[in-house]
Amino acid sequence: MTGPHPGIHDLSLATTHYRLDHDTLARHLGVDPAKFHDGLGQDSMSVPAIDEDIVTMAATAAAPILARHGTDRIRTILFATETGADQSKAAGLYLHGLLDLPTTCRVVELKQACYSATAALQFATALISREPRQQVLVLASDIAAYELGSAAEPTQGAAAVAMLISADPAILRLEPHSGLYSGDVSDFWRPNYRTEAVVDGATSISAYQDAVQAAWSDYQRHNNRELSEFAAFCYHQPFTKMAHKAHRHLLDSTDADAGLEAAINASTPCNRAIGNSYTASSYIALACLLDHRDDLAGQPVAIVSYGSGSVAEFLSGIVQPGYRRHLRTTANVQAITRRTPITYERYRTLHQARFPTDGADHDLPQESAAPYRLAGISGHKRIYQSRKADDTG
Ligand code: CAA
Repeated sequence: MTGPHPGIHDLSLATTHYRLDHDTLARHLGVDPAKFHDGLGQDSMSVPAIDEDIVTMAATAAAPILARHGTDRIRTILFATETGADQSKAAGLYLHGLLDLPTTCRVVELKQACYSATAALQFATALISREPRQQVLVLASDIAAYELGSAAEPTQGAAAVAMLISADPAILRLEPHSGLYSGDVSDFWRPNYRTEAVVDGATSISAYQDAVQAAWSDYQRHNNRELSEFAAFCYHQPFTKMAHKAHRHLLDSTDADAGLEAAINASTPCNRAIGNSYTASSYIALACLLDHRDDLAGQPVAIVSYGSGSVAEFLSGIVQPGYRRHLRTTANVQAITRRTPITYERYRTLHQARFPTDGADHDLPQESAAPYRLAGISGHKRIYQSRKADDTG
C-alpha cells in the first residue's frame, strides 16, 4: 500500500472529580439495583464538580498527549461535543489557550449528538492524507444530563478523550472505507433552551439498532469482510447493555456465530463505571479494549459510532504492532478509580446548579483536583485556570 495510512497515534481519557454509585441512585429511586447493574450494565456514573466542564475534561485528556509528542505539527484542532457551552465560540479555543497551542492552526467544534467525534476522525485522516507531516488533535468531551427522576437518569455520565491523529500511527491505522447511514429521526435531541436532553427511550434503542445495521450493510458493500473477521467491536455505549443489544441485533440479521458476543466484553468496563459520555463513548470503549487485551496486534477491530437524530458509521482499523507500549493504561485506570463518591443529595444539588447569566463576576469554588478548572464567569466569559499556572503564581 502506498501513501500515508492515517490513524490514532495516541489516545488519552479523562473523567470527572465525582462519581455517583448506582446502588445509591437505586436506593433513592426505590428501584432494584439489579435493573441498573444487569438490565443497563452500569455500576456508577461520573459527575462533574462545579468547576469542571467539557473544556477542563478535554484539556486534562489532551495535556499528556502534548507532553509526549509536542505541539509543533498540530495544525488542526477538532472538538466534538453535544454539550457546547457557547452558540458561537468553539470550545476548542478555550482549550487552545489553556494548553498554549500554536497560533498556526484551525480550531472548530463539531456537532451531531454522540457521533461527531467519528466525523472529526474522518476529517482528520483526510487532512493528513493531503499533508502527511501535519497532525490533528481530536477532542471528544461531553456531559450527559437527563431530567431527575426520568427513565434516562441512570444513563448519565461524563468524560473526554483526546486523540492525536497522524500518518504512520502507533496505535490504530484506520481503514479507508467505512459504512455510513443517516436518516431524520427524533429519538434524542436538545433544543437550545434546554440543559437536559429530550429522549424517547424505546425509539432511541430501535433507531440505534437500525442505523447500525444499515451502516454495516454499507460497510459490506465496500469491504470484503464478515463480522467474524473482527477481533473486537467498540460500540457507542449509552449504557453498556446497549452494545450487547446492538451486537445481538447485527448477529441475528446476519446469522453469524453467537459466540461473537465475547468480542465486545473487553470494551465495556470503563463505560460501565463512567456512564454515557456521548461523543467520547466509542473511543473510551477503544481505549478500554486496548488496555484489556494484549493479543490484538495486526488484527482488525470495528468502531461502531451512533449519534441520535440520527447518524451511524461502522469503521474499522488495524491495531498496530507494539501498540501496548503506547497506551496509557495506568492513567486510564486512575482517572476512573480516583473519583470521589458523592451522596444522592450532593449529586442532586450539582445536577440543579446553573451558572449565573447576569454578566457580573462570579468565582466558582475549587472542587476539582484536575490540572485544569473553570475558575469563574466574568462579563459572560468563561475563565479557565491551569493548576500549573496557580502553582507558579
Ligand atoms: N433486574 C434485572 N434486570 C432488570 C430489572 C431487574 N430487577 N428490572 C428491569 N430490568 C431490565 C429490563 O428487562 C431491561 O432489559 P432489556 O432491555 O434487556 O429487556 C432493562 O433492565 C431496562 O429496563 P427498562 O426497559 O424497563 O428501562 P427503562 O424504560 O426504565 O429505561 C432506557 C431504559 C429507555 C434505556 C432509559 O434509560 C433511557 O431513556 N436512556 C436514555 C436513552 C438511551 O440511552 N438510548 C440508547 C440509544 S440512543 C443513543 O445511543 C444515543 C445516546 O447516547 C443517547
